Amino acid sequence: MHGRPLIFLMDNHMIEWNDKYSVNISLIDEQHKKLFEIINKAIIAKKHGRTTKDVLEILDEMTEYALEHFELEERYMKEFNFTGYKTHRNEHIDFTNNSLDYKNRVVGGDSEIINEILEYLKQWLVKHIQVTDKKYIRCFKENGIK
Ligand SMILES: [Fe+2]
Repeated sequence: MHGRPLIFLMDNHMIEWNDKYSVNISLIDEQHKKLFEIINKAIIAKKHGRTTKDVLEILDEMTEYALEHFELEERYMKEFNFTGYKTHRNEHIDFTNNSLDYKNRVVGGDSEIINEILEYLKQWLVKHIQVTDKKYIRCFKENGIK
C-alpha cells in the first residue's frame, strides 16, 4: 500500500453528498458528486450480490473518471503555479496506484477484499476533498475559476 494507511470501519453504507464537501467550484463539485455516484453504484452492486466482474467494471469506471478529474485539478494547479501542486499530485498518484493494486488482487482471485476496497475509496475521497482539495480553493478562485 502506498501512503498512510487508513482505518477501515466497514459500514457498507453509501456515501452521501453533503455541502461541507463543496469546494464552491461548480465543475469540480460536479465531478466529485459523480465520483460519489460511481462508488455508490459499486456499493449497491456488491450489496445486491452482483458478480465480482460487475463490481470490477464499476471500479474501472471509477478509476477512469477519477483520472479525468485529477487531470483537471492538476492542470489548474500547474497553470496557476499552486504551491501545493506536488504534494497534491502525489496523493492522486497514491490513490491511482492503490486502486490498481486492489484491482489486481481481485482479478487474482481475492474477491473477499471488495468491501475493504469500497471502504478505502469512500474514506480516501471524503478525506482528500475535505483536506487536500480545499487547499486550492483560494488559488483557483483568485485565478477566476468559479
Ligand atoms: Fe484532488
